[in-house]
Amino acid sequence: MEATDSRLGRIVRLLSDNATIVISGTRIAEELETSRSEVWRAVQQLRELGVRITGHPATGYQLESMPDLLLPDVLGPLAQGQIIGSRIHHYFSVGSTNTEAMQAGARGEPEGAIFLAEEQTAGRGRGNHSWESQPSLGIYCSILLRPPLSPADALPITLMAGLCVSDAVQQVTGLRPDLRWPNDLVVGGKKFCGILTEMNSEATRVRYVVIGIGINVNHPSFAGDLAPIATSLRMEGGREWSRVALTAALLKSLDNAYGKLITDPAEARSAILRDFEEQSSYARGRDVRIADEPGFHGVTEGLDERGFLRVRTPSGLRTVLSGMVRAVGE
Ligand code: BTN
Repeated sequence: MEATDSRLGRIVRLLSDNATIVISGTRIAEELETSRSEVWRAVQQLRELGVRITGHPATGYQLESMPDLLLPDVLGPLAQGQIIGSRIHHYFSVGSTNTEAMQAGARGEPEGAIFLAEEQTAGRGRGNHSWESQPSLGIYCSILLRPPLSPADALPITLMAGLCVSDAVQQVTGLRPDLRWPNDLVVGGKKFCGILTEMNSEATRVRYVVIGIGINVNHPSFAGDLAPIATSLRMEGGREWSRVALTAALLKSLDNAYGKLITDPAEARSAILRDFEEQSSYARGRDVRIADEPGFHGVTEGLDERGFLRVRTPSGLRTVLSGMVRAVGE
């Protein structure tokens, strides 16, 4: 799939850096080393994407309001100096950002690269589910990492990502998400974020991991099967939120947490497990159903040292390695 033409982001940056003045098409064309007609075409494309730019080639252009697009030129400066976000790949439309990130991982792309889309046409969830990815309502983001871990020790990375989403959401919206092991974020009993971690590894060494994060931000509602189980930050907070602010906060939180994980893996891992247990109402003392075949009921008893969920059942303690955890009644 084609990444976004970098000229679009540069035009938005130029217009927003000079927000109070009208900039001539000639000046933009010079800065971008292109022609005025190419600038006009790019401006038209931006308008089709909902960016409000006044003017035309004869008068020059002005940005009416800052668009909430996850463009590299907008997010890059907010992620300066970080590993996470050191390279930003943006797509207006793509099949799945996880697929793009996994392919880039195979090509040798450095860790910290992120893949963002305004829309996914084949967004993937866990267990063969799809992920609804309507244009510019949610955050669809995949992060490529190369952690020095064995595959058996990789689960805390997913748990870490959930904690970082929660941190970013609290900072920007004030909402306090719950964490449903291993990787759903829930507010008001409904899910607004899912995480799909995919990995390429040898027997004892992870080659690369892709953390795919989908956040329902400004969806006004959900229909059909999703209606009783899905929500968005707008539906819970009663207003729209800046996807740029949320993404920047998320990248910062991830960068901080990942820095700790690679500096002192053992200490960071136990801190992640401790924080997860503290912040998740599902981790301990919750009556749950493990929905996968054949499925069972029990009461949660915290995480083991690798991050797997312990569940007390009438026939003894069981460890859930992967699976759909639902509170009884959910
Ligand atoms: C789940 O809850 O089942 C996980 C959903 C993960 C969705 C995200 S959106 C960005 C990334 N690209 C994908 O195709 N999936 C993940």
